[in-house]
Amino acid sequence: MADVHMGEAETFAFQAEINQLLSLIINTFYSNKEIFLRELISNSSDALDKIRFESLTDKSKLDGQPELFIRLVPDKANKTLSVIDSGVGMTKADLVNNLGTIARSGTKEFMEALQAGADVSMIGQFGVGFYSAYLVAEKVIVTTKHNDDEQYVWESQAGGSFTVTRDLEYLEERRLKDLVKKHSEFISYPIYLWTEKTTEKEISDDEDDETAEKKEGDVEEVDEEKEESKSKKKKDILGDKVEKVVVSDRIVDSPCCLVTGEYGWTANMERIMKAQALRDSSMGAYMSSKKTMEINPDNGIMEELRKRAEADKNDKSVKDLVLLLFETALLTSGFSLDDPNMFAGRIHRMLKLGLSIDEDEGAGGDDAEMPELEEVGAEESKMEEVD
Ligand SMILES: Nc1ncnc2c1ncn2[C@@H]1O[C@H](COP(=O)(O)OP(=O)(O)OP(=O)(O)O)[C@@H](O)[C@H]1O
Ligand SMILES: [Mg+2]
Repeated sequence: MADVHMGEAETFAFQAEINQLLSLIINTFYSNKEIFLRELISNSSDALDKIRFESLTDKSKLDGQPELFIRLVPDKANKTLSVIDSGVGMTKADLVNNLGTIARSGTKEFMEALQAGADVSMIGQFGVGFYSAYLVAEKVIVTTKHNDDEQYVWESQAGGSFTVTRDLEYLEERRLKDLVKKHSEFISYPIYLWTEKTTEKEISDDEDDETAEKKEGDVEEVDEEKEESKSKKKKDILGDKVEKVVVSDRIVDSPCCLVTGEYGWTANMERIMKAQALRDSSMGAYMSSKKTMEINPDNGIMEELRKRAEADKNDKSVKDLVLLLFETALLTSGFSLDDPNMFAGRIHRMLKLGLSIDEDEGAGGDDAEMPELEEVGAEESKMEEVD
């Protein structure tokens, strides 16, 4: 096990007036602490306005994060609340200047207003709204990334100073996934990425007292996306025969199985309905199409098929084998075959292969049942013959 830690922290002193303001905020009794959230959300909104404005003339400004959002992440266990936005962010210089070393004219004015009896909720009118976070928090951490700079972390428990640290870019889930795919593709052991999965709820005006988010730790395999593309390839070959193809972890040793969806017919029902003379054929087609093929990525057959499909996406035998696999799964999952002769044709081709009989020699004309394929270049097949 190897732990990698972040860079060294640089310490800065708060400008004198800001320091005074912080003491006032922390040591004076205000009951109206909740306004901090309004201030932080308003800053997020400003930051989003800025990136949106910049993107009007330069679309690439949104490349890092195309979605414009504000996320609230309460963490009861760690007693933290994160207000996350995908706005313009701050460079290291912005962080040092905006959050601590350059006082706004409003800093002094706000303190004077407070002493004259103004309410703390007026903080937003003086350009120092950010510091209201100290009404509720002992420690405030700002993690930020501006397009023109690296990611930095600002941190302070007030007390006269704050630190700025270069963040470890490799803490980003996306970045880690990309790196693993780029450099560790051929590692033969599973690589798991620990992720924090969040399910969210948008807080609309009429349900603003609802809890915003649920958070749970979870492990996710890095090549999940790879698996998705594998299943897509199979779906391409099977077409409408299945509703979808998914990679499953519940199949132990068979390569795949078929399950019906909530509204699809079970194997038994499908058999009964097929036997009924008066069945509505259009409804039958609809209902019987609701099958999901679950594939077992650890099975040797699936693994080899994937490799071959990747090597040549038009591999004739791969398509034939996938269809054979599907039809076999139909049988083992209790369904009946639409065309038993087609299935027999595929089995016969496999038998010939197993018996090393050259396909062209057989006079069966089974080729008619082979799946449609794009022409393989003549050059390519010749090269194979030379070998
Ligand atoms: N979420 C954020 N993203 C990017 N920059 C931020 C963010 N929050 C604060 N800042 C920067 O810090 C500065 C100080 O924020 P603060 O809330 O104290 O003042 P303000 O937003 O400029 O004024 P006011 O809150 O009174 O409207 C902002 O002007 C902005 O540059
Ligand atoms: Mg503000």
